[in-house]
Amino acid sequence: MHNDRILITGACGQLGSELTLALRNLYGEANVVATDLTPPKGGEIAEGIFEKLDILDGEQMATLVRKYKITQIYHLAAILSAAGEKNPKMAWKVNMDGTFNVFDVAVEQKVEKVYFPSSIAVFGPNTPPNYTPQYTIMNPRTVYGISKLAGERWCKYYFDNYQLDVRSLRYPGLISYKTPPGGGTTDYAVDIFYKAVAKQPYQCFLKADTYLPMMYMPDAIKATLDLMHADFDKIKLRGGYNLAAMSFCPSELATEIRHYEPDFQVSYVPDFRQKIADSWPQSIDDSKARADWQWKPDYTISMMTQDMLHNLKLLQNQQEEVLV
Ligand code: NAD
Ligand code: SER
Repeated sequence: MHNDRILITGACGQLGSELTLALRNLYGEANVVATDLTPPKGGEIAEGIFEKLDILDGEQMATLVRKYKITQIYHLAAILSAAGEKNPKMAWKVNMDGTFNVFDVAVEQKVEKVYFPSSIAVFGPNTPPNYTPQYTIMNPRTVYGISKLAGERWCKYYFDNYQLDVRSLRYPGLISYKTPPGGGTTDYAVDIFYKAVAKQPYQCFLKADTYLPMMYMPDAIKATLDLMHADFDKIKLRGGYNLAAMSFCPSELATEIRHYEPDFQVSYVPDFRQKIADSWPQSIDDSKARADWQWKPDYTISMMTQDMLHNLKLLQNQQEEVLV
């Protein structure tokens, strides 16, 4: 581990801003290169090495991999489900061409390991929605889901044909408080907390009874690092591993929040994201991840809710102190 040098794409996003800090803690600040389209606007992530990188610029990517003698790439940059539907061709280009640039530079420069995040968006309306198995019908209806499914197949292709050690997880919707989400269908499960802490009502863009698989960020970080640190022989799947922690619908999350904010009001005005959510699983069978590399989540919906509210209130108090 002490000789590893890591490059992260999309490092300023919801996942990257926390994964970058976890990687710096493990590998040392000097060995982790955060990259994104624009530099971080502050916060802890701004304290380490940062390089501007558009993942569509393969030459700049190759230059950085060479300059820093990179041995692992965490390829997080992507256009998510709801944002992707607004500009499908652009989302396809970023998600596919960016991934090819990463895989090709990894093969050319003998990068030892690559991480490719996939998503529950690889499933579609004909997928069995409950306890969705690892292998099943996959007919994604968003450009994001199509690109993630294609990306998974290319992971397997580069593993089989170029011996690239690429590993992948199908994350559920990620919930966190450090960086806002970047245009997904599961974003309501983060937005709702900001309104609850501000003591304002929340208008949800999904119906009250829309069940989706979700995960709290510490579990997502744990899963990612466990997968990447697992022995080579333990990784039996080179597409995305199913991954699960909790499943709930907006009204259940509102009920959890009301344990702490009893007057919290939620209304439901579904928009185009409802159709996307309806095409995704409600719960996931992650038994292969549990068997192959001993995955096990820590957070339940009630533990996550308590922690989210606690931390968002702390942040709110800090911001108020700065203003005084
Ligand atoms: P995000 O939208 O918060 O962050 C994505 C980052 O990628 C942003 O900082 C953005 O600036 C950057 N980016 C976009 N286009 C780029 C380009 N051309 N070049 C370089 N950087 C570019 O996304 P996230 O939630 O942090 O997701 C990270 C990864 O995890 C993505 O691949 C996403 O598909 C996957 N994922 C996320 C979730 C979730 O709920 N957040 C769920 C499943 C999978
Ligand atoms: N949370 C993501 C989204 O909603 C799923 O990958 O797009």
